[in-house]
Amino acid sequence: MELSDVMRSQNACRYYKSDDVPNSVLYKAIDDARFGPQGGNRQPTRFVIVKDPAKKKRLGELYMIPWSAYAASAREMNKAIVASDGTEKATNLGMSNPEKALDDADNFAANFGNHPAIVVVCADIAETHPTDTELGRLSIVGGGSVYPIAQNFCLALRNQGVATTFTTLLCMYEPEIKELLGLPEEWATAAFIVAGYPEKPFPTKLFRHPVETMAYVDTWGNSLTN
Ligand SMILES: Cc1cc2nc3c(=O)[nH]c(=O)nc-3n(C[C@H](O)[C@H](O)[C@H](O)COP(=O)(O)O)c2cc1C
Repeated sequence: MELSDVMRSQNACRYYKSDDVPNSVLYKAIDDARFGPQGGNRQPTRFVIVKDPAKKKRLGELYMIPWSAYAASAREMNKAIVASDGTEKATNLGMSNPEKALDDADNFAANFGNHPAIVVVCADIAETHPTDTELGRLSIVGGGSVYPIAQNFCLALRNQGVATTFTTLLCMYEPEIKELLGLPEEWATAAFIVAGYPEKPFPTKLFRHPVETMAYVDTWGNSLTN
């Protein structure tokens, strides 16, 4: 596939066929993904592919706890937005039809433990290279040693016809999940990527901001145009 087509159609897939994603396909995706950048080339990223039904079931049970709370508050927010001006706007789920997006994400959550594979992206925090820890705000740079490779992995799977959903809600259960999967002490959980063959065709149009409102030249607000 063309790189542009891969990037523009790699969505958060909510419905999967039950077919297994072969380890050879996952291997190829990681083989490509590992060329992503990382601070100091310290290579602090690992993947644990969870296919075992009992382990997936436990991850699914845990996922539902924060998802239920998140979905309830997102629905409240949607109502408030609709009530205030009478029109529906996209929520932080980033979709043009927020209610449908939430229903689909509810279904995805209810089946979390049944999806074909849950790929846990692990990070050795000590080997990330954060340069923004003294700014009196949440540090964001350290994740940059892990997430480009995680996104590469999603793109490399998409290129092979496999859909994914990038999730992070389960990171709050890191201590229990480390035990469940035998993660060494120094490794943290950075993302839980659900992977499987999509039930429906990949989307052709994802809802995103236009370039002009997200890229500026020299001064914030001076839009980049083509
Ligand atoms: C850092 C991050 C965390 C996310 N966490 C979750 C999550 O826990 N659960 C979930 O259903 N989707 C999660 N998503 C997926 C987003 O909701 C999705 O990427 C966004 O809504 C755009 O969806 P689309 O590509 O289908 O348009 C996460 C995405 C990112 C980048």
